[in-house]
Amino acid sequence: MPKRTRHISLKKKAEMVDAIIDHYIKVRKRKNFPKKIVEPVLKLVFPESHYIGRGFHKVVHAIYSRSFKRVIKISNFKSTNRDWDLYHRLPRTIRNLYFAKIYWHTKYCSLQKFGRKAVVPQVQLEKLKRRVKQYGLTDVRAENIRKFGKGFKIIDAYPART
Ligand SMILES: Nc1ncnc2c1ncn2[C@@H]1O[C@H](COP(=O)(O)OP(=O)(O)O)[C@@H](O)[C@H]1O
Ligand SMILES: [Mg+2]
Repeated sequence: MPKRTRHISLKKKAEMVDAIIDHYIKVRKRKNFPKKIVEPVLKLVFPESHYIGRGFHKVVHAIYSRSFKRVIKISNFKSTNRDWDLYHRLPRTIRNLYFAKIYWHTKYCSLQKFGRKAVVPQVQLEKLKRRVKQYGLTDVRAENIRKFGKGFKIIDAYPART
């Protein structure tokens, strides 16, 4: 048995989302990621989820796994991979202190801890920005920060050009 089994069924569902999207791309001969079908596919595979937001790259839905709230993020292959790599630029010891935990990813989906929307105090914003800058994380803005318990964490960033 794998050590962590908690998210297996969600991951299997995410792999179904990948398969449906890939099938669509194939039969419709699409060159680009079919953003338009993401919403209906999510509704189909995760009927209990609900839309909470989108940015330039991702569509984000909230889902419950056991008693915990998570978000499932869907974006193209490049963006999904970039996010996973970016998250791992932070040393293990501080990773989950400053960045909302990303549990796993598939081709187009990733699962992250849910954070509440809250006004981000300027000092907190500056602190987070400063802490992750040395690891090449940029684009730390209020829209990319959420509240987790009493503290604030980054939910999305962008790699600095190297
Ligand atoms: N972990 C999270 N908890 C709560 N809301 C989130 C989370 N991640 C993303 N969101 C919501 O989805 C929006 C887009 O997500 P984000 O990761 O910033 O994607 P993009 O790369 O498209 O900017 C966010 O602005 C926020 O409203
Ligand atoms: Mg964003």
